[in-house]
Amino acid sequence: MTGPASRVGAVWAQDRTGVIGADGAVPWDVPEDMRHFSRTTRGHGVVMGRATWDSLPERWRPLPGRRCVVLTRDPAWSAPGAVTATTLGGALDAAKQPGEGSDGEVWVIGGAQVYALALAEGRLDVLAVTEVDVEVPGEREQLALAPAVDPATWVPSRHEPDGGGWATAENGTRYRITWYERS
Ligand SMILES: NC(=O)c1ccc[n+]([C@@H]2O[C@H](COP(=O)([O-])OP(=O)(O)OC[C@H]3O[C@@H](n4cnc5c(N)ncnc54)[C@H](OP(=O)(O)O)[C@@H]3O)[C@@H](O)[C@H]2O)c1
Repeated sequence: MTGPASRVGAVWAQDRTGVIGADGAVPWDVPEDMRHFSRTTRGHGVVMGRATWDSLPERWRPLPGRRCVVLTRDPAWSAPGAVTATTLGGALDAAKQPGEGSDGEVWVIGGAQVYALALAEGRLDVLAVTEVDVEVPGEREQLALAPAVDPATWVPSRHEPDGGGWATAENGTRYRITWYERS
């Protein structure tokens, strides 16, 4: 991410209809997108909801090379390798402090509740949104959903691949990444 180190981004992957999760997990497998996630977040502070922390495979907790700040309403909650925060502002501040696992840049990494909160509170400067060309079945009330990206506020600044077409993962799944900046 370019610009001042204190900028805050959000990174997520969604299906064609905006679904980001089902049954506490991400319902597709695109290793190329996981590498994009790693490249985008490594070395920076990351903020996530407690449910997203719980959804990470144990070997990825904490995410290596990233200070992991977990937002929970339970001040007694703790987990090895996680910094706990009970407000989004507190979580962002904790992720931003330069030092072990953070150079001051912060990425909000989900899930649905925390993306929605960060957008509603105007905390985000950059969005990195991967679209995966699948449609997750199920009732929308049962699914975790991406927040709405208002085109009056958010302007695409970069597409991967260039031009906005689809890339094809090695397993055949199509995906594309759009970076947005505030207008
Ligand atoms: N596709 C993607 O890019 C992506 C990325 C991340 C996650 N996901 C998926 O998203 C789903 C999880 O999302 P989710 O919306 O259910 O949960 P979430 O946002 O990860 O976490 C929700 C939890 O965060 C805490 N929280 C929320 N708002 C808070 C506030 N204002 N103050 C303090 N704490 C607050 C609460 O924790 P307590 O209950 O402990 O109080 C709440 O239960 C999973 O399916 C996951 O796999 C997908």
